[in-house]
Amino acid sequence: MFPNFFHLTKRFWFSLNPRKLSEENLDWVRSHLSENEFDYWEKFSTADKHHSFQVAKQASSEIGEEGKEFVAAALLHDIGKLESGFTTFGRVFATLCCLLFPLRKMEKWVQKNKGIRRRLIDYAKHPELGAKLLRQIGSKEQTITWVLEHHSESEKWETPREIAEILSSSDND
Ligand SMILES: [Fe+2]
Ligand SMILES: [Fe+2]
Repeated sequence: MFPNFFHLTKRFWFSLNPRKLSEENLDWVRSHLSENEFDYWEKFSTADKHHSFQVAKQASSEIGEEGKEFVAAALLHDIGKLESGFTTFGRVFATLCCLLFPLRKMEKWVQKNKGIRRRLIDYAKHPELGAKLLRQIGSKEQTITWVLEHHSESEKWETPREIAEILSSSDND
């Protein structure tokens, strides 16, 4: 369900010393999102903005400008993580929990209204939470679909396979 260990380790080390995006890169992000989407994207930490930008830039070089809603999906794929409110170390802990506990088990914690287990379940469910958020702010259907399925098995993808493969491999680089 979650990305490979090498990818996670790379992201962890990077997140300890993130670089801010240049104005030019921020303009590129803005040009691929609606105003509402950009307002949420701006809430990402510096490290998450950087990851989102890298994934989207890589994907857009292969998808091209016609697939703007898919580039938006690449920029917003982890937007649901905003809900869990974890910092870098909390994320490492949350990711390990996602690897150790099946979602079935974590789902039993869903009755919890607050506390660490509530935040863990929010983290594990970030694709659903992200899709819900994007639906509320009027994102395009193709964008919402990829955000919802970006950790699903490839057999279940509804995004056109060619595009989904580009999006998935850009995220796991
Ligand atoms: Fe994700
Ligand atoms: Fe990612």
